[in-house]
Amino acid sequence: MAIQLSDIEPLSLQGLTDIAAADTTVKLLQVKQSLLGKDSEFTKLRATLKDLSEEERREVGSSLAKAQQKLESAFLTKIEQLELAEISSKIQTDFLDVTLPGTPTKAAKVHPHTQERLRLEEIFQEMGFTVWEPYMLDSDYNNFVALNIPDGHPARDMWDTLRINENLAFIVHTSSMQNRILSSQEPPIRAIVPGKTFRNEATDARHEHSFFQVEGIYVDKGIKLSDLLGTIKVFLNSYFGREMPIKVQPTYFPFVEPGLEVMMQCPVCEGAKPLDCGGCSGSGWMEVIPCGMIHPNVLKAAGIDSNVYSGFAWGFGLDRLIMIKYGIKDLRLFHSGRLDFLNQF
Ligand code: PHE
Repeated sequence: MAIQLSDIEPLSLQGLTDIAAADTTVKLLQVKQSLLGKDSEFTKLRATLKDLSEEERREVGSSLAKAQQKLESAFLTKIEQLELAEISSKIQTDFLDVTLPGTPTKAAKVHPHTQERLRLEEIFQEMGFTVWEPYMLDSDYNNFVALNIPDGHPARDMWDTLRINENLAFIVHTSSMQNRILSSQEPPIRAIVPGKTFRNEATDARHEHSFFQVEGIYVDKGIKLSDLLGTIKVFLNSYFGREMPIKVQPTYFPFVEPGLEVMMQCPVCEGAKPLDCGGCSGSGWMEVIPCGMIHPNVLKAAGIDSNVYSGFAWGFGLDRLIMIKYGIKDLRLFHSGRLDFLNQF
C-alpha cells in the first residue's frame, strides 16, 4: 500500500518518544537502527513513494524528509547528552590520580654470585688488572700442555676431565687462559680470569661438576714472591672488609715453582680452633688461594724470556670464597633458584 501523509506523524512521534526514553548510548543506537535503518518503517514507506502521483509524491516526500531530519537531530542531541553523562561517570569511577604514591613492587636483582664476582673484579681492576673471560671448551694444549703438563704427565690425574673428543675438553681450570693471555700481551701483564670450570666429580654440599674459579696473572721485570703475597693480602682484606691474617704452605702444581697454598685464618672461630668449628674443624686456618711463581716453561711456551721476566699466578675457587664470606653451608644453593636464599642478598 502506498504511503499516506497521515502515516508520517504517528511514526515520527513514536520515534521521538523512543529517542527520549533511551538511557544509554547502546540503547540509543539500537533505537536509531530500528527507526531509520534499512528494515525500518520509514525505509519501507519511502520505497512506496514511487506509487504516488507526482504532486502527492512531492508533498509526502518532503514531509517524510522533514520527519526524518527531526529524528536525526533529536538523535544527535540525545547521543551528545548520553556520551557526556557516560564520560563524566567514567571519570568518577576510573579516575587515575597520577600524583598518588605508587604501589611498592619487588624489583628483580642481580644473583648473589654475580654481585660478588663484580665486587671482586672491581677490587682487581683498582689494582690495574684487566678482566678476561675463558673459553668453556678448550684444547689439550691450553688445558695442559702449555702449562708444563705434557701428554702422559702423571699430574694430569689431578684433574678429572670432561672430554668432548681427543683434543677438546671443558676447561678444568681458568689456567687454560694463561697461554693465550701471556702470548698475546706485552709485559707488564696483569689479568684476572673469572670463569666457569668443569670437573668430572660427584656433587655434594662442597663439590660440583661446574664451579667458578678466578685466575690471576702478573708478569713483569723483577716480580717476586713478596709481590704475589702482597697482592693476595690486599685482595683478601678488601674483599672481606677487614684484616685477614694469612700464612702459606708449599704445594705442587706443574705450572708454578714454587707452588703455594695461601691459608686464611678461619673467620668463623677467628683462629680460636675449637674442634667443632664449622669453618676449619679445629685447624684455625682455611686453604683459600693456590698460587705460585709462574714456571719458566710456561713463560717460554708463551714466547716470554724467563731470564728477563718473572711473574706469579693464582687460581682460587670463587664459590668457596663467597661461601666463607657469608657462612653459606651448601654450594648447591647458588643454582637452586630458592628465593628464601636469594632474597637475603
Ligand atoms: N689451576 C689450579 C687448579 O685448578 C690452581 C692454580 C692456578 C694454582 C694458578 C697455581 C696457580 O687447581
